[in-house]
Amino acid sequence: MSGAAGAGPAERWFADRFGGRPEGVWRAPGRANLIGEHTDYNQGWVLPFALHLGVTVAASRRDDGVLAIASRQAPGAPVGLPLATLVPGAVTGWAAYPAGVAWAVRETGHPLAGGASLAIESDLPQGAGLSSSAALECATALALAGLYGLDLSRPELAALAWRAENDFVGVPSGIMDQSASLLSRAGHALLLDCRSGETTDVPLDPAGAGLGLVIVDTGARHALGDGRYAERRRECDRAAALLGVTSLRELTSPAAAAGLADSVLRRRARHVITENARVQETVTLLTGGDLAGVGAVLRASHASLRDDFEVSWPEADVAVDAATAAGALGARMMGGGFGGSALALVPAGQRAVSAAITAEFGRRGWPPPGFVRAVPSAGALRVR
Ligand code: GLA
Repeated sequence: MSGAAGAGPAERWFADRFGGRPEGVWRAPGRANLIGEHTDYNQGWVLPFALHLGVTVAASRRDDGVLAIASRQAPGAPVGLPLATLVPGAVTGWAAYPAGVAWAVRETGHPLAGGASLAIESDLPQGAGLSSSAALECATALALAGLYGLDLSRPELAALAWRAENDFVGVPSGIMDQSASLLSRAGHALLLDCRSGETTDVPLDPAGAGLGLVIVDTGARHALGDGRYAERRRECDRAAALLGVTSLRELTSPAAAAGLADSVLRRRARHVITENARVQETVTLLTGGDLAGVGAVLRASHASLRDDFEVSWPEADVAVDAATAAGALGARMMGGGFGGSALALVPAGQRAVSAAITAEFGRRGWPPPGFVRAVPSAGALRVR
């Protein structure tokens, strides 16, 4: 294992900030989403997978009722937060994520009496749309549960990490990222039905198919809290209400969206309905061993996110077009939108696609994008 993947770097960081050896080390991955974008908060289906990159937390209990947090990505003295003072809005910045998890754990009736020292190490780029915040929440949740021997299932941990983000940090995300980080299985994507919570592991082995999944970090930074994500959520709720359903998930035919007089709401609803169908189609293809066939579905997803849902951004559109022109089977923007990463399905060992994207960026005077090979990996675990 490299980077922050092993226990070592986080343990050394713990010794540096708090002294001594931590009681344990926990790690939670970031995620990529193969398909199913902006469907989770519409009670639909998503098909993400865990990455090999993630957040590692080395932690010990304390006896003074304080949550002490030190992040190697935000150097400085540890932040010390008395547990009793944790209320939504009380903490801002990166520390709000682990603090929010401690708050959410306490809200479920587990007092975490003495507090905890958390030393955080990450090899996930922030703001790249790979869910670094969910990975931080999930690693913290697993660490606190482990330290205090709390009997919480993985879905329960995902729910409280999600609650930390929504109710404590105040970012209105869906449940996809936390579920992917905690529930994924290596070599598989995670099919999650966001209405029932039911999950199914779907085989996803790009290398075995002679293909590769490449994440293109477009360099454009996004923030879910900037209002545009929340606006999409409101539009979807409004469309569902006007169509007389509890969520857009209830609709299976794109023709149902035609009943909306407002052309913006009509397009938003059409995206959600067709994207849910694309998730099902992708699962059928993967189950039948046809990963190559997913390429066309990725392309259709991107067009829908760009034209109907209007959450794509210039760097993503250029990356997707350049990738496809250079031989990718398919590509699409990934995540909430307005910045972050794209995902491309390429023939294995192909450098032409990344070279073409870099060249197109250069032609526009944009900084070169970053490339990460996406390996469907295991969900969060105790490392030591
Ligand atoms: C962000 C959110 C997820 C999901 C995606 C869009 O990543 O955190 O819950 O809504 O956007 O699919």
